[in-house]
Amino acid sequence: MTNREIIEATDRTQVGVYARYPVAFVRGRGARLWDADGREYLDFFTGLAVNNLGHGHPRVLGAIRAQSEKLLHASNVYYNEPAARLGELLTCYSFAERIFFCNSGAEANEAAIKLARKHGAERQGGRYEILTTFNSFHGRTIATISATGQEKYQSGFQPLLPGFRYVPFGDVAALSQAVRKETVGILVEPIQGEGGVVIPPPGYLRDVRRLCDDHGLLLILDEVQVGMGRTGTLFAHEQDGIRPDVVTLAKALGGGVPIGAMLTTETLAAVLGAGAHGSTFGGNPLACAAGVAVVETLLGDGVLENCRVLGRRMLERLERLCGELPMARDARGRGLILGLELDRPGRPFVAAALERGLVVNCTADRVIRLLPPLTISAAEADEGLEILESVLRAGA
Ligand SMILES: Cc1ncc(COP(=O)(O)O)c(C=O)c1O
Repeated sequence: MTNREIIEATDRTQVGVYARYPVAFVRGRGARLWDADGREYLDFFTGLAVNNLGHGHPRVLGAIRAQSEKLLHASNVYYNEPAARLGELLTCYSFAERIFFCNSGAEANEAAIKLARKHGAERQGGRYEILTTFNSFHGRTIATISATGQEKYQSGFQPLLPGFRYVPFGDVAALSQAVRKETVGILVEPIQGEGGVVIPPPGYLRDVRRLCDDHGLLLILDEVQVGMGRTGTLFAHEQDGIRPDVVTLAKALGGGVPIGAMLTTETLAAVLGAGAHGSTFGGNPLACAAGVAVVETLLGDGVLENCRVLGRRMLERLERLCGELPMARDARGRGLILGLELDRPGRPFVAAALERGLVVNCTADRVIRLLPPLTISAAEADEGLEILESVLRAGA
């Protein structure tokens, strides 16, 4: 099918919840994508922070191929080896002692919310409330839009799930004031991704950890977007030197195969006994085999180091651009999640960049968000920034 045929068939048959750009990708290798008409693109989006190792990584493909020939699915009524191995890896390289596998970020956060509520109900005299932040994003289910502190995701879906209250991001005093006897935990992103690549002040997560300790609250970190190496360490919170109680993951964990995970401690996990929660596809052998390959590759091969080095290089160039282009207000980021805030909507520039062969994204209306593969080369990083810069200059 051509681009046009794919677009027409999609628009005729699918619920129109996505404001799509008029391109259908059919193939990818490393940081490159090709559309159905054979046109090549440089990918600074990675399917929204999913393909952290680039497209078609041989180790991920090999693991998927090998697993697909053995077993695709058998149910959580039984045990499976890839899930066992991925569980071992994730517990070995994180604070966690226990993992619950699911299929998406929203589901990972649902699991975290249920864990917090059951912990509150059974061990904390009925505490249930979770504090989250304005401008956050935690998913599209009813519970996770209720946790998300942005009206645009909630509008039309009321009544929302009770038990969430929002405070400004990055403000530990506001969090402290908001804590009350019903509060069981705090759910926060280490960096707000959808919210516009918003980085909290230094020490924020450490202060939130202290606040949680003082009040006996659970610290739940949503690392769905910034986990799996995106900020230059396997988990973003490692850079804050803290131990969370719960971390949620999805996106890049499966290298392109849908998977989600909730990581927690032995003690907390004990509140979710047999029958308390579950998912048909959670811990699916194919997704977990891909996950094992992803984690092993991220931890070897210099991927995280490349992410840190290239992240600094790209951020410096974006900062220079801010000095030169009046429309560019701010450049920020950590590792290879980067944001360039404009003084106007970014969507026309994203469309123009696509025309020029660069896949990039805009979030929070005015923030150009760059999420290249962590394996990107310096030449590719420069090439993409060159295109972005010329598109912005043309529009200035
Ligand atoms: C921080 C964060 N949490 C949760 C989600 C939801 O993940 P999913 O779309 O896999 O449900 C996202 C998705 O962008 C996210 O960025």
